[in-house]
Amino acid sequence: MCGIVGYIGEKAADSVLLVGLERLEYRGYDSAGIAVIENGELEIRKRAGKLKILNEYLREYPVTANIGIGHTRWATHGEPNLENAHPHFDNKKKFAVVHNGIIENYALLKEELIKEGYYFNTETDTEVIPHLLAKYYKGNLEEAVIKVIDRLEGSYALGIISEFHPDKIITVRFGSPLIIGKGKNENFIASDIPALYNLTKSVYYMEDGDVAIITKNDIKFLDSKGNKIKRDEKHIKIEDRGIGKSGYDHYMLKEIMEQPDIINNIISKRLKGNDILFTHLRDLNKEYLAKVSRVIIQAAGTSWHAGLVGKFFIEEFARIHTEVDISSEFRYRNPVIEGDTLLIAISQSGETADTLAGIREAKSKFIKVLSICNNIESTIGRESDAILDIMAGPEIGVASTKAYIAQLVSLLLFAIYFGRLKWTLDEEKIGNYLKELTLLPDKIKSILDKKDKIKKIAEKYSNANNVIFLGRSYNFPTAFEGALKLKEISYIHATGYQAGEFKHGPIALIDENVPVVCIATKEDIYPKMISNIQEVKARKGIIISIATEGDTEIKNYSDEVIYLPKTIDILSPLLNVIPLQLLAYYIAVKRGCDVDQPRNLAKSVTVE
Ligand code: AGP
Repeated sequence: MCGIVGYIGEKAADSVLLVGLERLEYRGYDSAGIAVIENGELEIRKRAGKLKILNEYLREYPVTANIGIGHTRWATHGEPNLENAHPHFDNKKKFAVVHNGIIENYALLKEELIKEGYYFNTETDTEVIPHLLAKYYKGNLEEAVIKVIDRLEGSYALGIISEFHPDKIITVRFGSPLIIGKGKNENFIASDIPALYNLTKSVYYMEDGDVAIITKNDIKFLDSKGNKIKRDEKHIKIEDRGIGKSGYDHYMLKEIMEQPDIINNIISKRLKGNDILFTHLRDLNKEYLAKVSRVIIQAAGTSWHAGLVGKFFIEEFARIHTEVDISSEFRYRNPVIEGDTLLIAISQSGETADTLAGIREAKSKFIKVLSICNNIESTIGRESDAILDIMAGPEIGVASTKAYIAQLVSLLLFAIYFGRLKWTLDEEKIGNYLKELTLLPDKIKSILDKKDKIKKIAEKYSNANNVIFLGRSYNFPTAFEGALKLKEISYIHATGYQAGEFKHGPIALIDENVPVVCIATKEDIYPKMISNIQEVKARKGIIISIATEGDTEIKNYSDEVIYLPKTIDILSPLLNVIPLQLLAYYIAVKRGCDVDQPRNLAKSVTVE
């Protein structure tokens, strides 16, 4: 999604802004720009493409200023070109604005402004904002901003500067995240923590409807009507794990390789013997959870796949009926939810607009919400009744890997914790599951040690145009996740199916050019999976099997076999996804794709 930064202080604003934008590159973008006030004049520098192009342009056309705002744009309205890049400004170039979100009523506003004589240079929704500022400005910038936001519908995080007020930045937050960093004789704004982390550890998390007036020595907050409000200063706790590739070629590979440590970290923080410890369950105390009779999980993308696995965990260990919804569907289906329903929202970023909307829908029906999140200070984290921090550290690669594994481990521990409250689990069985969980990091390490073999297989099939992933039972979500990983970073069309469903139509896709990745580790459904593999083989499909060490039978039906250590059936998704992550990674690298920032994608989709 778009990235916003801002600076006011004594340093060179352009340098601070560019470093901040670089730290937000992981969010995905297609153009970038900054606006500064130099000698009382508004100066704009923006370019299509990556930040290095803007950097080169600034070397040619430098600016000298101590106040500015910057933006990386992920196009929603209008092509990803120079004109549509932010910042946007009014016809007299007195106001500059950067925006993350969507102004849903921009067309009406644009029509009104054109009738009043304002002319537009871009196709963006954002451009209505500087023209509205010019329309309502009567000498007081804050008052003008309040009048403008009263006209806006949709979601917006805004950074605003004006030539009339070279000593302040105004920020607004409604629906898209914005954080203010507090420094010594300097202050900052950013869409996300990584852009601030090397500058300050003191921050303010803006809430929806907040307006902030930021000078170099002061930060004031107003509500959307202009009344003074207070926001608490917070200290950034996250470990600076996500910044820097630690010698790997890409963040994604680094994050894949981090997964054993991530699981060990969760175990060290959440398991004391066989006791499971959660710290932010707040209102979701044991008495409340003991009364829950139904669970709805809602999430998007990879997090939705984690939810599909989570359903197996909760129904197996707590014997509670669990439904799994895609967030963008859940929020509009007027779900039947009663008082004893628990909503679980899964979101790595904690800013996904659809998932946030789902939470608000549930809360409007007085349903308690547990969020499983990688950022407890995120909007989703702060609007939930309880949070389960997956503790994966900042995930920079757009394609989610370590967060997925951390979500699965967190869901597993929650399901066992929940099952204990429901008295549906015997302690011996729990002990076996938790013991096996502690063995998974080493088992994952043994799979990662095979990465060169997996790389060879990946490169062999990197020219495929279509790839199918098949899985059954606990691993049909794994098949979905493997397909998403491949398509989102290699741009190959890939689809995951429940293997039993494949013969009901999709098998028509098979011919000698289609690799089919079959998750056929030794679980109860293994014989059924072998039948599905044979059905594909009979139609000349290329079979890449994910199998259990020691299984020699599967070789008879496979073109390639990737062997994994044995584990308990229901925990196998935690192992089976690892080779699929590596297959996707190496195929994308072989195809020369931008692995960490794939085209068209954003790390956090904060618009509908
Ligand atoms: C995962 O690889 C994708 N980048 C994407 O599907 C992601 O999982 C989805 O947008 C949900 O994001 P969230 O977990 O931050 O809510």
